[in-house]
Amino acid sequence: MRLIREIRCYPDDGNEVVANTWAGTGNGTSLGAYRVLRAVVEGPVDRRTGYLCDIKDIDRILRTVVAAGLQTRGEGTGSDSPSLAAALADVFPHAARGLRPAALRSLELHASPHTRLAVDERGAGMIRLTQSFEFSAAHRLFCKELSDEENRRLFGKCSNPKGHGHNYLVEVTVCGTVDSGKGTVADVGHVDRVVLERVIEPFDHKNLNLECAEFAQLNPSVENIARVIWDRLAGAFDGCRLASVRVWETPKTCAEYTGGDVP
Ligand code: NI
Repeated sequence: MRLIREIRCYPDDGNEVVANTWAGTGNGTSLGAYRVLRAVVEGPVDRRTGYLCDIKDIDRILRTVVAAGLQTRGEGTGSDSPSLAAALADVFPHAARGLRPAALRSLELHASPHTRLAVDERGAGMIRLTQSFEFSAAHRLFCKELSDEENRRLFGKCSNPKGHGHNYLVEVTVCGTVDSGKGTVADVGHVDRVVLERVIEPFDHKNLNLECAEFAQLNPSVENIARVIWDRLAGAFDGCRLASVRVWETPKTCAEYTGGDVP
């Protein structure tokens, strides 16, 4: 079983009672900077309490070990992603010790609703940086070997001959190592520039079927869009590699591609 818990708007303002809300810090009168720390813990569920772990213990470790550690290691000297990444990797084993017997599987730092760093137990010093992007585009789903009626049955409204639009949300995750206090995972600005240049500019406000070469013969389904974006980004980042591409076509439908062969 896994339990996921986050604290918001830290650091606190020194009050004993800290509100875990979006509204601000402990005394309820001041606005806190946007920050989210999230822990994923795993373990058996206690038969008597039904708890895997008391979330108060997770909150305490996130505040006293992780948030405090980040402040002294990274946030105190700068908020660039490499120094935050190094700090997050550095505090991970301390947080893991504090949460035992529950096993800490990953720690995430959300610097904004659109940017997050994550480190997990699998690779010491491996950091994932995820950024989200948006573009609006038109497409039409159809197979030329099928009749109009068959296309309508298979793709429904998405087969409208005049096309239709979506506001796509793209989440790009890159993965890199952090070496002893000097992070080398890509900086946010670099990821931003690469994705804007290779994906957002070419796709935004376009008709994907008619204006993007990859979709001249390929159906622009959300699955194929994720694959095409992967191909445009793989190998393009300095000092890190592409780990996953998620594309949300609507808030209910998302495709994720992590490389490898597609049958
Ligand atoms: Ni559609």
